Amino acid sequence: MDEVIARVAQAIAAAERILVITGAGLSADSGLPTYRGLGGLYNGHTAEGLPIEAALSGPMLQRDPALCWKYLAELGKACLGAQANAGHHAIAELQRRKPGCWLLTQNIDGYHRAAGSPMERVIEIHGELAPLYCQSCGAVDPELSEHLKRPLPPRCRQCAGVLRPPVVLFEEMLPEQAIARLYAELRQGFEVVLSVGTSASFPYIVEPVLRTRQAGGLCVEINPDSTDLSALVEVHLAGRALDVLPKLLSHI
Ligand code: APR
Repeated sequence: MDEVIARVAQAIAAAERILVITGAGLSADSGLPTYRGLGGLYNGHTAEGLPIEAALSGPMLQRDPALCWKYLAELGKACLGAQANAGHHAIAELQRRKPGCWLLTQNIDGYHRAAGSPMERVIEIHGELAPLYCQSCGAVDPELSEHLKRPLPPRCRQCAGVLRPPVVLFEEMLPEQAIARLYAELRQGFEVVLSVGTSASFPYIVEPVLRTRQAGGLCVEINPDSTDLSALVEVHLAGRALDVLPKLLSHI
């Protein structure tokens, strides 16, 4: 695999515009659960017999905020209890070296920000877990970790309304600004796309790969398993992000 990594590194070194797409598999190396596949969060049902996608949905947050927050709190505690890994740091380093390197992340753990990725070139398509905000008066509340120690759902200090994280829950719309930014950058095109640790379950994750391939760019996937993207990419590096990304950077 090392000679393939060296070839990919050469293409990245020669490129101006690069898109890195990340998913839960990148943070799996920090100990966070992925959503699908082995040990994925979505494989089981909740204690209430609901699919997790129903518990973590917009309608559930309105209908039964305590139930929705029971599972939001699990995600929150997992994210706050771990940290960015060498894969996140390698991506931040690549973005520092390449001003035309953009990051499209589906992860809400905030680890790319913590690893030092330049947030003006990070598109958080599913939002982030913090800071919380009040659904009634809009007040922002930065105390996610404090609220996780108290009875749920967390309440607004100003008006006692139910707080929520700025994440995209199931059955909710994607953030308009993030989508607009993504398509503005896609229109400029990318010479290389690196898909890291994602099952590519959404069209807005597959589309950048398709467009780059159609434009003759290099598409690379870093994932121990095969996904829907595997048949579309030129290079599939079947390994963990934590192992492959630092090696890739060492060749650039
Ligand atoms: N390194 C790289 N990839 C890994 C690793 C690893 N160490 N461990 C697991 N993977 C891969 C798995 O093989 C899988 O293909 O990461 C992928 C994780 O896929 P999902 O769990 O579906 O996560 P993701 O693609 O990010 O899901 C997208 O679905 O429900 C939404 O909001 C949720 O953001 C999430 C989105």
